[in-house]
Amino acid sequence: MAEQPLAAIILAAGQGTRMKSDLHKVLHPIAGLPMLHHLLESLNAAGAARQVFVVGARREQVEASVAPRGVDIAHQAEQLGTAHAALQAKAALTGFDGIAIVCFGDTPFLKPETISRLKERLLAKDAPRVAVLGFVPEDTKAYGRIIADASGNIAKMVEFKDASEAERAVKLCNSGVTAVRTADLWPLLERVGNDNATGEYYLPDIVMLALADGDRAVVVETDADELIGINSRAELAEAEAIWQARRRAQAMAEGATLIAPDTVWFAYDTVIGRDVVIQPNVVFGPGVTLADNVVIRAFCEIVGATVADGCIVGPFTRLLPGTEMQQGSRVGNFVEVKNAVLGAGAKANHLTYLGDATVGANANIGAGTITCNYDGYFKYQTVIGDNAFIGSNSALIAPVKIGRDAIVAAGSAVSRDVADGELRMVRAEQLVKPGRADRFHDAMRKKKREGNWHASIVAEGA
Ligand code: UD1
Ligand code: CA
Repeated sequence: MAEQPLAAIILAAGQGTRMKSDLHKVLHPIAGLPMLHHLLESLNAAGAARQVFVVGARREQVEASVAPRGVDIAHQAEQLGTAHAALQAKAALTGFDGIAIVCFGDTPFLKPETISRLKERLLAKDAPRVAVLGFVPEDTKAYGRIIADASGNIAKMVEFKDASEAERAVKLCNSGVTAVRTADLWPLLERVGNDNATGEYYLPDIVMLALADGDRAVVVETDADELIGINSRAELAEAEAIWQARRRAQAMAEGATLIAPDTVWFAYDTVIGRDVVIQPNVVFGPGVTLADNVVIRAFCEIVGATVADGCIVGPFTRLLPGTEMQQGSRVGNFVEVKNAVLGAGAKANHLTYLGDATVGANANIGAGTITCNYDGYFKYQTVIGDNAFIGSNSALIAPVKIGRDAIVAAGSAVSRDVADGELRMVRAEQLVKPGRADRFHDAMRKKKREGNWHASIVAEGA
């Protein structure tokens, strides 16, 4: 049998009013990635060669988000129901002959294996005309119900509003995800009417039409947590929690230690090596790769950073986009790094800002060192050589280069390049007054005793 091409029709024309948002519901992120892209990843993994998004309001937002991925957009001007919405994808799929999977944009956790299972079921020898994905949720709410026999042959699909008491007692619910050959889908959708409790065109009615034609329709079951639908901010937070719980479990299964897993927040694309230790309260943004044996201490925010083998980060560190920590380098408390490379074994252990900088291997950046990289208009580079030593509280005023093995004395404001092996000290001349502090204290104590405590100290003289 020739491989059947797969197309996905993703319905997302609903208003999403319960989100109370100016952003289209399907663009709200989970683990830093818009929820619709979680679904698109699964559809790609399942081999859906064509993807059509059906949108109504805020179409331009969705278009901007999916256009780079070659996803087609179909417009449903009026929300007349799920069957009507699916039919809007017909023009975009002109000439496509294969299997269509209809799914919902706000159900982001659908797994590729489940999509494949549904497709395989449709292609099985008993030749069902429609295959529907069902689930048994803890709370059956107002989901549409599936009345089926023990082998999954469907006798009836009924929406909650149209269901009898006996039908409402059925636990098997319709997820909405439906597989149909495109050759069957369009004619079935065109036959769907709206004579029901809501006056809408129901997608599940294509099952009833197939049954009326004497054909078979079947249900494939899957876990309820794969089908969580997001309609409100609270449900968005639930979805985030489910995603994070899975990712934490995966990280631990792959050999990372999470001391307090519930307090570690991953992004959709975080990459973690083996024997990595992540202490409590760490948040990852997109674009982070941690190699093996990395330790992330407590309270760090890490975004867009590559951290090599054996590095130690934190506590209380921010690694921002463009950070590259090479093997065994260390960044400690209250350090912010942005768009900067730390060479192997380099250290910035406390209270430092490294922005637009290259730090050589084994260089030591003292507490309070700041790369002054921005003049309000442009950003400038700081280049620090291998084994350089930057004394505490130094300001490196970019663009500036510090040579290999150079020493910058503590408290220096360096605005000109420092040569290899040079010592640079930029400090004001020191004023030395032996015994002056003792005399000051004596004089002031005397005044206070005499009730003259507010007198100016100017009279005392130097
Ligand atoms: C639908 C199913 C129900 C199922 C439930 C699962 C129908 C008639 N009912 O009900 O059996 O148990 O999903 O969550 O299909 N949409 C459009 N255009 C429209 C209407 C809806 O694009 O005109 C989109 C929505 O944006 C949403 C999806 O279709 O992504 C589902 O619509 P919704 O109104 O939430 O359907 P339910 O009433 O929940
Ligand atoms: Ca819904």
